[in-house]
Amino acid sequence: APVEKGNYRHYMQKEIFEQPIVVAQTLQTYVRPFEGEVALPDADLDLAKVDRVTIVACGTSFYAGLVAKYWIEQFARVPVDIDVASEFRYRQPVLEPGGLALFISQSGETADTLAALRHARDEQQRIAVVVNVPTSSMAREADLLLPTHAGPEIGVASTKAFTCQLAVLAALAANLARAKGRLSREEEIDIVAHLQEAPAALNAALGHDDDIAAMAYLIAPARDVLYLGRGPDYPMALEGALKLKEISYIHAEGYAAGEMKHGPIALIDEAVPVIVIAPSGPLFEKTVSNMQEVRARGGKIVLISDAKGIAEAGEGCMATIEMPEVHPLIAPLVYAVPVQLLAYHVAVLKGTDVDQPRNLAKSVTVE
Ligand code: AGP
Repeated sequence: APVEKGNYRHYMQKEIFEQPIVVAQTLQTYVRPFEGEVALPDADLDLAKVDRVTIVACGTSFYAGLVAKYWIEQFARVPVDIDVASEFRYRQPVLEPGGLALFISQSGETADTLAALRHARDEQQRIAVVVNVPTSSMAREADLLLPTHAGPEIGVASTKAFTCQLAVLAALAANLARAKGRLSREEEIDIVAHLQEAPAALNAALGHDDDIAAMAYLIAPARDVLYLGRGPDYPMALEGALKLKEISYIHAEGYAAGEMKHGPIALIDEAVPVIVIAPSGPLFEKTVSNMQEVRARGGKIVLISDAKGIAEAGEGCMATIEMPEVHPLIAPLVYAVPVQLLAYHVAVLKGTDVDQPRNLAKSVTVE
């Protein structure tokens, strides 16, 4: 049966709002909440033997991979290489036999990612695939198949597949950490508890849809927009910028907040809105000090943070978007929501074709 939009105006909007449910659905495969354990589908693969992980993907799926690099290195202390598929294929990467190559794809058919997978297999890598379409080429070619249960994603701009990828990748990082003897029982119980908090936190984030719709007019006239984030929230800056580019056709760039003063700060004036992604947590003060540097140069800031962060640093911002206070582990999932919604509402204001933006295809099956 074809997927219907129901009461939503666009598939993208519907898919954004489905996130609490599909993330919960996806987590069911990867956590045992009563046992306080993370789990992976059965596969003939010994994670304890993995000494290096190579992550390859494109677009939004690549940004999920960037977050996974932070998590895998932090929890499992296993080194991670990461590339966009179109670069990986042709740069003659050094791959030690027995390494784990991890491919992330909503469709499972992206030509560059699929070719990269085959290249990695030829180089004796074990193949793990995070994929939303269970019948796809990539799913069939995996040694370790890690499905996301986002359901069909129709909007060209990926939303719910992305947060489901993050949920799977967090569980994978925890599984790898346990296999490597890097995760205590208490830490595992904690990780499971935080992952289990994600669906409610996503719901709370969606509760701010009206506020975001109400401030989208501040962004719609801009020619350029910058997004800043740090650590595992830096890829959310990249993702926010990509979403805005794709559907509103506004030029946008994501930067690691600490990179601003190495060049991009020269762009700052009152015509360039700067979206700052800064959940409370270990990196908050650092991100805020980068934000103040932007403000001191006349930058117009939209701060996305929780009540605590907004109380501390919201003064003088052009706008603030409040998120629930969450554990840093799930912040990337939760902070994906406001950047999706902001891009969505700006695109609606501009009257673009949200579900079928110009020049783009849902799945890029040609090189
Ligand atoms: C995201 O909004 C995109 N339209 C695009 O970047 C996408 O994520 C990319 O083409 C990868 O697709 P895949 O996940 O199906 O491999």
